[in-house]
Amino acid sequence: MKAFTPADFDFTFLEEGFCARDIVEQKINESSLSDDKDAFYVADLGDVLKKHLRWARVLPRITPFYAVKCNDSKAVVMTLASLGAGFDCASKTEIQLVQSVGVDPNRIIYANPCKQVSQIKYASAHGVQMMTFDSEVELMKVARSHDNAKLVLRIATDDSKAVCRLSVKFGATLKSSRLLLERARDLGLDVIGVSFHVGSGCTDPETYSQAISDARCVFDMGAELGFNMTLLDIGGGFPGSEDTKLKFEEIAAVINVALDKYFPVDSGVRVISEPGRYYVASAYTLAVNIIAKKVIMKEQSGSDEEDDGTNDRTLMYYVNDGVYGSFNCILYDHAHVTPTLHKKPKPDERLYPCSVWGPTCDGLDRIVELCALPDMQVGDWLLFENMGAYTVAASSTFNGFQKPDIHYIMSRAAWQCMQQITAQGLPTVAEDQGTGNMPSYCGRESSLELPTKPHATHVL
Ligand SMILES: Cc1ncc(COP(=O)(O)O)c(C=O)c1O
Repeated sequence: MKAFTPADFDFTFLEEGFCARDIVEQKINESSLSDDKDAFYVADLGDVLKKHLRWARVLPRITPFYAVKCNDSKAVVMTLASLGAGFDCASKTEIQLVQSVGVDPNRIIYANPCKQVSQIKYASAHGVQMMTFDSEVELMKVARSHDNAKLVLRIATDDSKAVCRLSVKFGATLKSSRLLLERARDLGLDVIGVSFHVGSGCTDPETYSQAISDARCVFDMGAELGFNMTLLDIGGGFPGSEDTKLKFEEIAAVINVALDKYFPVDSGVRVISEPGRYYVASAYTLAVNIIAKKVIMKEQSGSDEEDDGTNDRTLMYYVNDGVYGSFNCILYDHAHVTPTLHKKPKPDERLYPCSVWGPTCDGLDRIVELCALPDMQVGDWLLFENMGAYTVAASSTFNGFQKPDIHYIMSRAAWQCMQQITAQGLPTVAEDQGTGNMPSYCGRESSLELPTKPHATHVL
């Protein structure tokens, strides 16, 4: 993998002792002298690195193939490419993006079970062999359009408790899996494994257990039919921030037990995953500016109830990014977003019932239906944390509102740690046993410690 320079990423070094929030502050201060108060992001690429190290620590057997659809910013793709991750691409454009930063085709899985024929041909011409399927028609298309596909059968999961369900659209049942495997064999295709997705925003870790056990059944069917089944792909579904009930580590613990039971290390099966949200959600903070405001006085109710004066009005704030932009996550990703104040409120500051709206002329463009905020003015800022997943990737410029600029940052310690990993990979079990081989850069910042468990699967 080619080593990139900071200029390739277009990020700014974060000086020691500073954090993403300081950069948000700095950008806001810079804007205070002008009328130009466009919404903007600060994205900490060091946070993506920390996620990668955390992944390697708790899921050491599983190689992450980042789901590009979640956030296709080139800087994110370059960061993960430098760290040795693989990539889950949904389309020709995503394959092009990943290959444009020098990723080898064997680090790509074309994980869309329903592909356009011309895009299957593109994958074939560009050496991308691993791809998912869940139907007979897809098998026939691949047989005609790809020279050497390595097929992965996507099976359905019980994703009824997930925030975003996917098995309503994709995934073969166990019963149809046998028929599909037979058809693949008749067509002379090579099936190498099984994939699934438990739904994005998983709330029940047992779904992974069940899906891994189902995958075992399909592996056995495949082996019976003569396929060399070597790849298990456990999809995505992991949380990307700390504000979810179910924590990443809890899910990982359940997955590790299920893997040990159904795919023990000595089975020789390579395990990969397609995390999207996990890697990027917490790296992005969005700052939006209040462009308009309305005060709605409550009608006199005539009641004798005591009123301390806070209940006489509600405030409507209009900001310069909305559900047709970054907050499309509210519509498409079932997200609930919470504004935080840029200016610290005074201890006794009165809060009002407020709603927050986007800038377009559409009534659907509402970001927050009801929250408590102080009386703010046009020109004040609101911040939204954990805005990296399914936000910038699906935003539009509806009504002519441009997408916010993204300011990338990374600490020097994180940069040096990343360089070390690009050059030497994550340490293998043997290297971990002696502390002498630990890249010393990586321990200087909290959460940049390297994993201490085996993770040989990270050598791609
Ligand atoms: C096939 C596939 N893989 C991975 C992902 C990423 O999922 P998540 O962001 O929940 O990790 C998705 C999301 O839709 C997907 O469709």
